[in-house]
Amino acid sequence: MRVLLTGGAGFIGQHVLARLIARGHEVRVLDALRADVHRGRPFVPPPGVAFLHGDVRDPDAVDAAVRGMDAVLHLAAKVGLGVDVGDLPDYAASNDAGTAVLLAAMARASIPRLTLASSMVVYGEGIGLCPEHGAVTPGPRREEALASGDFEPPCPKCGRRLGTALVGETAPLDPRNAYASSKVAQEFYASNWARATGGSAALLRYHNVYGPGMPRDTPYAGVAAIFTSTLRRGEAPQVFEDGAQRRDFVHVRDVASATVLACETHAEGVKAFNVGSGTPRTVGEMARALATSLDGPAPVVTGRYRLGDVRHITADSSRLRMELGWRPAVAFDDGMAELARA
Ligand code: UD1
Repeated sequence: MRVLLTGGAGFIGQHVLARLIARGHEVRVLDALRADVHRGRPFVPPPGVAFLHGDVRDPDAVDAAVRGMDAVLHLAAKVGLGVDVGDLPDYAASNDAGTAVLLAAMARASIPRLTLASSMVVYGEGIGLCPEHGAVTPGPRREEALASGDFEPPCPKCGRRLGTALVGETAPLDPRNAYASSKVAQEFYASNWARATGGSAALLRYHNVYGPGMPRDTPYAGVAAIFTSTLRRGEAPQVFEDGAQRRDFVHVRDVASATVLACETHAEGVKAFNVGSGTPRTVGEMARALATSLDGPAPVVTGRYRLGDVRHITADSSRLRMELGWRPAVAFDDGMAELARA
């Protein structure tokens, strides 16, 4: 296929690009090389890949980028969590408006297929299991509770401690920060476009992506990159809360294979797919795996917390396996050891 990859110079984008090339697709990359991500570094596309330096918010750049394409993979976005309400305009412009401009251009050029990079953050605090009330949506955690070391969000009905559950794609959307809201908006715009044009959209809700090329020492650095940098300085990783918060750390090459597979195979209607390894880990476990690989000091559990962090987010990624036949290939210990070496 001839495919346009937006955000192809980014961390996940470069791995998706490599996968597209390996699968024999003809690729054009559109990337704005945002200063807050790329810090002035140039992007040199691999041989045979056309690179357009442009912004998805610019209709002329996007019209030129989509011309002659069979499909679009839309990864260009402002990532991170958003520090405060002052970040809302940039998320709305970069992610919401950028997607709207892209979709309008796709409609003008009659491009029928979209694969969108979304995120597990669309589920907010996800689902908890109450011994009395069953599956419930945990409420936001109160600062006084966090300050007193009480990190588990309680049942919103009776206040009891909740068990954890895997979040499926039909769980309610509950975006709790600027980034999450912009991902929900992108999904909704994509659905609007698909209904209006008869196009297909695969909405890939990525879990915590890690691997070679992860941004480090920037506001976009995920916890695995932060711990790796800390260990390289010979210091102990600082684990927030009590270290028992759960995530699904999924390797970036597995995310790339899922993304390309969805682009190749999902050709009808709108469907969301969780993209996780299927094996949740605690942040404490992840810190220990990296400390072991780097032969560094043992992690320190600090009890500190970030307001706005969710406690557990763990996906049920079985739809991607069952319906598209995706299989993650990188085991957690191998992936963490590779990250440590990178
Ligand atoms: C991450 C992504 C987000 C994505 C989401 C999908 C980043 C920066 N954020 O959010 O874009 O949509 O996954 O699931 O990649 N922590 C520590 N010590 C630290 C830093 C963090 O213990 O020094 C803890 C945090 O408190 C949190 C966990 O690590 O409990 C994960 O944090 P982080 O890597 O920022 O990712 P998410 O918030 O899960």
